[in-house]
Order: sequence, then structure tokens, then C-alpha cells
Amino acid sequence: MSDDKKRYPIGESEPERRRQAERAASGPQAAAQTPEPARRGTEAPAEAGPEAAAMRMPAGAPAPEPPVAAGEEGAASALAELASAQAVLAPERLDADAAPAELAPAEAAPAPPAGGPLWLRFRLNGQRRELRVDPSRRLLAVIREDLGLTGTKRSCEIGRCGACMVLVDGEPMNSCLLSAYQCQEADIVTIEGLRDERAERVKSAFLEEGGFQCGYCTPGMVVSVTSMLAANPCPSRAETEEALAGNICRCTGYGSIFRAVCRASAGEPDANLI
Ligand code: FES
Ligand code: FES
Repeated sequence: MSDDKKRYPIGESEPERRRQAERAASGPQAAAQTPEPARRGTEAPAEAGPEAAAMRMPAGAPAPEPPVAAGEEGAASALAELASAQAVLAPERLDADAAPAELAPAEAAPAPPAGGPLWLRFRLNGQRRELRVDPSRRLLAVIREDLGLTGTKRSCEIGRCGACMVLVDGEPMNSCLLSAYQCQEADIVTIEGLRDERAERVKSAFLEEGGFQCGYCTPGMVVSVTSMLAANPCPSRAETEEALAGNICRCTGYGSIFRAVCRASAGEPDANLI
């Protein structure tokens, strides 16, 4: 950083300060006569208005674009920088950044039954629950808002990130995509109810390997990993990637997540896993 930038706020350089001091020393008349140098982001003088600009334009030339305010320009370039940084950081295996046209079409959910609220009856973390809800209410909202279990996280709400993952009849599912009427008589387990020996081993492995940064994706990851290990106690790297394809860690801490899976797996760690 140069000395100018250290000492003066943005837009006020040392030469400009010096000019202002000289104008002040010469009195108000001299200051009024000294032409103000043009500065970026300030308004154009009155004589250089639209009419003057039109006079300078060649015949048939397109009308000039309206000026972009300095604030908008800065915000636009910051957004562009952020987008390119995300493109660089995003791991190849994540298809979350793929263009919508490349995604497989989502399976159309069956229409909710006609009529008013229904009595939703299901098992949640081993307990029988019964509550009256709108049939199209999302399971995620029922769990978090109606039943107060906030370990299941809300993020994308379109089935892309896996933060809302729960087990429904033993299968990992995105609770943001399930409607209440689809969970009638289901057996649902959330992160709060995941307490068996395998789940505890997975949680410990995430802690020991630092398998999270912000931790927002972690409950969903633990649900998916526990489910995967129940079916396949010693998964390969490819199998792990496939099982976690629906769980996105925005911090891109996949190295430690894979090490946590490796530590939690029952058999010898797969040589390709890390
Ligand atoms: S919040 Fe459900 S998949 Fe992202
Ligand atoms: S640890 Fe923050 S999104 Fe995964």
C-alpha cells in the first residue's frame, strides 16, 4: 500500500490536498477562480449535459448508456469477482454449479390430497407424533417450526444441498422436498435421534478430523454418512463421493470430511479414500 493511501481516505490524494491548501491560503476569491479538476464519480458540469453530448455524437450513433453510479459499479465488480472465485473453488464433482439445463429433471411430486389440514401421524426419533398440519406443509417446516427440532438445517430448500437430510424409513431424504401428507405413518429420524453406536462413531470422527468449518452442512453429512456406513461399512472413495453427492459443504472442506468417513468406517481405511 502506498503512503498516499495510508494517510488519506480513498479519493483524496496528497497533490489534491496540497491544491486545496493553496486555494484556502489565497482566499475565497482565488479558490473560486481555480478550476476544479475532474474527479471520477462526480457529476458532469452543466455545460456538458445531454445536449452538449448529443452535439459531439456522430450522426446515427447509438444513444449513450446512462452513467453507472460508482456504488453500483463497485457492487457489480465485487459480484463478478465472487462468482469467479466460487468457480475456482468449487470441486469438480459438485454439479450444484451446473447450468439448470444440465440437471436431471426433478421427479414430479404427486399432488397433495384435496381438502383442509390433515392429521399427520408418524414416528419421530422413536416417538409417536400426531399433529394437524396443511398437507402440503414441508417436512422440514414441521420438524423445525412445529416440533422445535432445529438440528435439521434449512438452506437451499430445493433439494440441492443436503443440509435438511433426515432418515425416512431408513433412507436419507431431503426434508425440504417432502410434503407432510407423504410422511403419513413414516418412521423419521433426525440428527437429534441419531444416537446409535455407528452414529456416535461418525460424530466423533467429524470432530477428530475437523470435518466441518461453519458446521451448517454437518448434521446432513452425519445423517448421510451414517446411512452409508450402515449399508457399506468400508466404502471406497468413489462410493463415498456417490453417497455424499447430495450433501454440499460450501466451505469446500471435503478433505477433512473424507478423512472423517475413513476414520469412522469399520474396516481398514481404503487406500484411495484420503
Ligand atoms: S435445504 Fe433441503 S436440500 Fe438444501
Ligand atoms: S462446514 Fe460449513 S457448509 Fe460445510
